[in-house]
This record gives sequence, C-alpha cells and structure tokens, in this order.
Amino acid sequence: MDTIETIYKRRSIRNYLDKPVEKDKIITLLKAATAAPTAANCQPWEFIVIDEGEKLSELKDKFIFARYNVPVAIVVCGNMKLAFKGPGQEMWVQDCSAAIENILIASTSMGLGSVWIGVYPIESNIRPVKKILNIPEHVTPLGIVYVGYPAEEKEARTRLNEKRIYWQEYESSRKHKTKDKPVIGHY
Ligand SMILES: Cc1cc2nc3c(=O)[nH]c(=O)nc-3n(C[C@H](O)[C@H](O)[C@H](O)COP(=O)(O)O)c2cc1C
Repeated sequence: MDTIETIYKRRSIRNYLDKPVEKDKIITLLKAATAAPTAANCQPWEFIVIDEGEKLSELKDKFIFARYNVPVAIVVCGNMKLAFKGPGQEMWVQDCSAAIENILIASTSMGLGSVWIGVYPIESNIRPVKKILNIPEHVTPLGIVYVGYPAEEKEARTRLNEKRIYWQEYESSRKHKTKDKPVIGHY
C-alpha cells in the first residue's frame, strides 16, 4: 500500500475479529514503533504487550472509553531515567506519541486494525494502569494501542481544512469552530 494512502486509511478501529495476532506481526509493530524520531536520540520508550485475556479484561475494566473486544494491547510508556534531562524532559511525550503513530500506521499497512487509547496526563487513568501492570515510579504509561484483525471498515480520509492553514504568519482575525467538517467518528 502506498504510504499516503495508508495514512488516510488509518482509522480508529473498535470492532475486532475473535482471532489472535501472530507474534511476528507484533514484533514488526514494535520495530515500526522504535523507528520513530526521538529527541536527542534518547529513545525513552518501553512497551508492555498484553495478549492474554485476563490482564486485558482487568485493564479494560478501568477505561469507560476502551471496552472493546481486542486480542492485543500495547502499552507505550516513557521511562524518566532514559528521558532527556533538564527542561526538555517532557519531550518523552512527543517521542512516545511518534512511536504510537508508527504502530497505528504500520498496523493499517499490515491489514490490522488499531486504536489509540489515551492514558497520560489523566491521573485517574495512569494510576490503575501502573498498578495492574506493576509499572515502577519512574515509568509513565502514555497510551495504549489496541491491535487486532478488524471487524469493521472505515472510509479513508484526510481532514484538511484551509482555515487551519496559514502561510508565512498566523492570522488572529480568523474564526474557528472546535470541530471542522468533515469529521467522521468520535468517542
Ligand atoms: C491522545 C488520544 C487519545 C485517544 N483516546 C481514545 C480512547 O480512550 N478511546 C477511543 O475509543 N479512542 C480514543 N482515541 C481515538 C480518537 O477518538 C480518534 O482518533 C478520533 O475520533 C478520530 O478518528 P480516527 O482515528 O478514525 O481518525 C484517542 C486518540 C488520541 C490521539
């Protein structure tokens, strides 16, 4: 699949087939994740792969917006001992976000469905994830990527809106709506 086509085709998939994802495919997704750019090449990311039902159910129970029947969850974490030191420390969020997006795009290109479940910075999300997965103090879960064979198909699309694009400098006189058309799908 062409790269631009894959990017448009990437959509949040919330319905999955009752079929496991092969280990080698999970490894490919992790390889894609760790090919992402990272500030000062710190690579502060760590990944917890959950492909067993019991742990997955325990995790899903804590999230109102994530109770989908999925075979694999990849929890993407930032390790503060590996992160950029000093005022740039928060860049771990961007590093790990880039890794998540790579997983989403790679899974689309492999015929898998996926969805990003946000954890950080909501404390009431972070706490249960850390507890269930035994994550130490200096490691923070940024998000969870659900991955599985899709049981739904969504339209490929971009949401380019000229009103959001400026050339050369910002124009404060422009009025924006919070959501611009076309917006397909929400949670
Ligand atoms: C930081 C972040 C957190 C998200 N959290 C959730 C979530 O908790 N549950 C969910 O179903 N989708 C979640 N999503 C997916 C968005 O709902 C989705 O990307 C958005 O509706 C646009 O749809 P699309 O992904 O199909 O383009 C999240 C996405 C991001 C980037």
